Amino acid sequence: MALSLVNIGLVVVGLIVGRVAAAVASPAPHQSTCRNIPGDARWPKSAEWDRLNATVDGRLIATVPIAQVCHDPTFSPEECAQVEGQWNAAIVMTTRPAEIMTPWFQNQSCVAFSDRSTPCDLGNYASYSIRVSNADDVVAGIGFARKNNIRLVVKNTGHDFFGKSTGKGALSLWTRNLQHKELVQHYNTSYYRGPAIKIGAGVNGKEAAEFAAQYGYRFVVGSCPTVGVAGGYTQGGGHSFLSGLYGLGADNVLEWEVVTPTGERLVATPTKNSNLYWALSGGGGGTYGVVISMTSRVFSDGQIALASLSFNTTTVGGDDPFWASVGVLLSQLQPLVDDHGAVAQVSMTHSIFSIFGLMVPGADTHDLANLLAPLLTALSQTNSALTSSAISLVITHNSTYAGLVAANVEAVTEAITLPPVIGGRFISRSNWANNATAILAALRSTMANERFVVALTALNTQSAARLAKPIAPNAAPPAFASVYLSLIVTSMWDWHRSWADAAPLQAEYLEVVRPTLEAVTPGAGAYGNEANWQQPRWQDVFYGSTYERLKGIKARYDPEGLLYGLTAVGSEKWAADGQGRLCRK
Ligand SMILES: Cc1cc2nc3c(=O)[nH]c(=O)nc-3n(C[C@H](O)[C@H](O)[C@H](O)COP(=O)(O)OP(=O)(O)OC[C@H]3O[C@@H](n4cnc5c(N)ncnc54)[C@H](O)[C@@H]3O)c2cc1C
Ligand SMILES: *[C@@H]1O[C@H](CO)[C@@H](O)[C@H](O)[C@H]1NC(C)=O
Ligand SMILES: *[C@@H]1O[C@H](CO)[C@@H](O)[C@H](O)[C@H]1NC(C)=O
Ligand SMILES: *[C@@H]1O[C@H](CO)[C@@H](O)[C@H](O)[C@H]1NC(C)=O
Ligand SMILES: *[C@@H]1O[C@H](CO)[C@@H](O)[C@H](O)[C@H]1NC(C)=O
Ligand SMILES: *[C@@H]1O[C@H](CO)[C@@H](O)[C@H](O)[C@H]1NC(C)=O
Ligand SMILES: *[C@@H]1O[C@H](CO)[C@@H](O)[C@H](O)[C@H]1NC(C)=O
Repeated sequence: MALSLVNIGLVVVGLIVGRVAAAVASPAPHQSTCRNIPGDARWPKSAEWDRLNATVDGRLIATVPIAQVCHDPTFSPEECAQVEGQWNAAIVMTTRPAEIMTPWFQNQSCVAFSDRSTPCDLGNYASYSIRVSNADDVVAGIGFARKNNIRLVVKNTGHDFFGKSTGKGALSLWTRNLQHKELVQHYNTSYYRGPAIKIGAGVNGKEAAEFAAQYGYRFVVGSCPTVGVAGGYTQGGGHSFLSGLYGLGADNVLEWEVVTPTGERLVATPTKNSNLYWALSGGGGGTYGVVISMTSRVFSDGQIALASLSFNTTTVGGDDPFWASVGVLLSQLQPLVDDHGAVAQVSMTHSIFSIFGLMVPGADTHDLANLLAPLLTALSQTNSALTSSAISLVITHNSTYAGLVAANVEAVTEAITLPPVIGGRFISRSNWANNATAILAALRSTMANERFVVALTALNTQSAARLAKPIAPNAAPPAFASVYLSLIVTSMWDWHRSWADAAPLQAEYLEVVRPTLEAVTPGAGAYGNEANWQQPRWQDVFYGSTYERLKGIKARYDPEGLLYGLTAVGSEKWAADGQGRLCRK
């Protein structure tokens, strides 16, 4: 795999708020409208936490941030070196309670790279987690949070870009251990007949794909093996290498098993609690209820091919030829995406263009070589240096989706870590058709100063090759229907820089990069799972025409606003006060 260029530098921040160390127990100014945090008079006493712990059979965990071993008085040189070496690795963060992957929300409160004399503070970490093993645990957690007026969050893997799976002083429902997997060979309802798979809310993409492959099926999952399936991914829409054939994750959901914020257990399907089904299928994670399991349509597995290639400014002889080649390549890629259901993931810097995975389900190596021929010809006609060997072209295939990903993609996607500043934008098919030159110029200017890099997913959820319509109408972002390129912009970062450098990068993204990209992509929107937490007009940009209906469903199932997340539906009613308490506006 040529480049793991998305190793763009990501950072994370951890937090510990010492339950004990929350030094100043300042009076809460808006007691009744704010959630209690440690130190507040109404924060539950330890006997109450013990009672909760007994209710959940000892599965209550007091948060100990992973980097505590890097700070006095618990500093341990060997253990800290180990934490530093794996800092922010998905496999580490996603398998522990309370850890999250986004540096901005880790906020440097307890990271492996700050001075050992800096106290390890909980900051935005949840104070306690319940290692959820069944719906009863969720009901207990919801009841405790309501009774004590404390913040409640749901954490599955912690991949969320917006810190939605964490919160200062929160009780966290940690769902990772809900690992049920079950094949339903003959799902039979008015809206679908055929094979399905039921998974617990903690199953990740790799686990779901491999389980399905074992029975000869494919499950629509994200490209990164550790991203959860039934959590923020499918609840936020969920694009996949398989979306050209089968649509989004949300398009394939048959039923959700859920505990609502009022503690009610429901099953939501297209015909039962259908409003809730609609909202959970794409209307955003952590908003309408706590999902226990999800049952989804699966598809026959089989031959599937993958190509990778890359070139750089040196190969092509400078910046202008580089951008000319990028333009030709992105134009030539579109027919593969529109007509053949291909999905490509691309990493770019100011000087490197790398398709680390162009996947075509149904094709073998020979088929994919044929499909790529026009693109390769156009590329070498644009720049004679761009021969197949100069671009390190590799074409491979496998008899299962899971096998192809494990052998060729996983090493790249699993190495991705997150930097402090992340943004995103869609480029629609009509944007590209009308204004490709201006779009390329905007991308070029975004990366020219070497402070930002870009990851692109090329896809068409309405491709001519698509094999199945959505199971039922759903709340997946309507803008997905028009997307050609989904963009993630990330800041360069390395952990040895001063944390003070993060805020100017965020300002530069918001004030320079974002408007530059928006100007050339009118009306395109952005993916609410892959964007910036300060996106202006986020209701319209992330949710579009679904927002008003989603707000109504939120109000019906979560009348007290127990579930909150930045940019989640209904979150405009809340804001943090100066000490990090979540308060009703
Ligand atoms: C490296 C990387 C690769 C990615 N690749 C893709 C991709 O290929 N395609 C794509 O579409 N997206 C992708 N994403 C974005 C991803 O979809 C989001 O980050 C998503 O929110 C992750 O969901 P999670 O449940 O794994 O994470 P978490 O951070 O644990 O949760 C995310 C949100 O969902 C809520 N949630 C989690 N579990 C539940 C539950 N059981 N019930 C209710 N709410 C719940 C949380 O409260 C939070 O609001 C990627 C992200 C990263 C970091
Ligand atoms: C909950 O109980 C278990 C089992 O007794 C114990 O190991 C754990 O430390 C307790 N959690 C808390 C937060 O006290
Ligand atoms: C990060 O911490 C600082 C205080 O150290 C605080 O002012 C700021 O709001 C925090 N940011 C986030 C995103 O929590
Ligand atoms: C599916 O359900 C319908 C209606 O209940 C029934 O008539 C039909 O035989 C079932 N099909 C299968 C394959 O079980
Ligand atoms: C650019 O590509 C060439 C192959 O054409 C490769 O040898 C070189 O290492 C690449 N340079 C960078 C900076 O990636
Ligand atoms: C297919 O996938 C399996 C499992 O990852 C792997 O062992 C095998 O090498 C792959 N085959 C090819 C041709 O890549
Ligand atoms: C094309 O991009 C320019 C900015 O370079 C913008 O002003 C214009 O509105 C865009 N036109 C269309 C049709 O998107």
